[in-house]
Amino acid sequence: MLSYRHSFHAGNYADVLKHIVLVEVLRYLGEKEKPFEYIDTHAGAGIYSLASDQSKKTREYEQGIGLLYTDTRQLLKPYLNVIRQFNAGGRLQFYPGSPKIAESLLRAQDRGWLFELHPSDSVPLQQAFAGNRRFRVAQEDGFKGLLSLLPPATRRACILIDPPYEVKQDYDQVVATVINAHQRFATGIYCIWYPVVERERIKRMEKKLVASGIRRIQRFELGHLSTEEGRGMHATGMIVINPPWTLFAKMEALLPLLVETLETGQPYQFLCEQWAGE
Ligand SMILES: C[S@@+](CC[C@H](N)C(=O)[O-])C[C@H]1O[C@@H](n2cnc3c(N)ncnc32)[C@H](O)[C@@H]1O
Repeated sequence: MLSYRHSFHAGNYADVLKHIVLVEVLRYLGEKEKPFEYIDTHAGAGIYSLASDQSKKTREYEQGIGLLYTDTRQLLKPYLNVIRQFNAGGRLQFYPGSPKIAESLLRAQDRGWLFELHPSDSVPLQQAFAGNRRFRVAQEDGFKGLLSLLPPATRRACILIDPPYEVKQDYDQVVATVINAHQRFATGIYCIWYPVVERERIKRMEKKLVASGIRRIQRFELGHLSTEEGRGMHATGMIVINPPWTLFAKMEALLPLLVETLETGQPYQFLCEQWAGE
């Protein structure tokens, strides 16, 4: 049985990077009246209390959203405004996961599909979306679930692929699933999160994606990029296929802000890259 629980990590710097990108993509899709779909292959529990035993144990959010929450810079506003909606009274107490972030940005005409395999997360997720008919929650494998939905009837979609990489096969499975999904639905916006634990694994993902012939791939990374491989994650990244045309410039401006604000002790660095163009 899988042991990864996102409640230990909610709101950490990896969530910050992932959710900034997600907010940008969903806002972009919402600019046109036409409906779109949101597909979250690894949804988690939906929302997390930062006062939970898990969160208090690691205190990871303190080096993530905790350092940004009161920031007033314009560029961070779209992301922080979403996080603030879940914190009545202004004090940071809750961190919304990707499904709740999506819920706050989807419109009446849009639909969401949330896959979460683990019962400890899937039950609270079902509860968090009870009565919301725009979203379907399934306690199923998200890789298979994604493929079963493609191509979506609306032909517009944001797909978040955010596995825990607890099992090493996840690295290969992400790439294989994305290539398969792209063959069924080439115009979807695919957002793939990854942790840098062993750099070689990420290079392998990169090589396979580029070799697949998929075009329009960007990558944004943040963390201790030159750290020797050790135990645990020392950087985090997002790969985006078919990014909004506005995303690269926004991330080029945002990543230095994140480096400056989130570094504690050893400074962070960032990458902002285009792997394959038009
Ligand atoms: C990194 S967390 C998700 C966080 C969430 N996307 C967010 O941004 O708030 C990964 C989740 O995937 C779940 N999971 C692991 N393998 C899965 C699979 N094959 N299909 C669906 N969910 C899975 C885990 O139980 C865990 O809750």
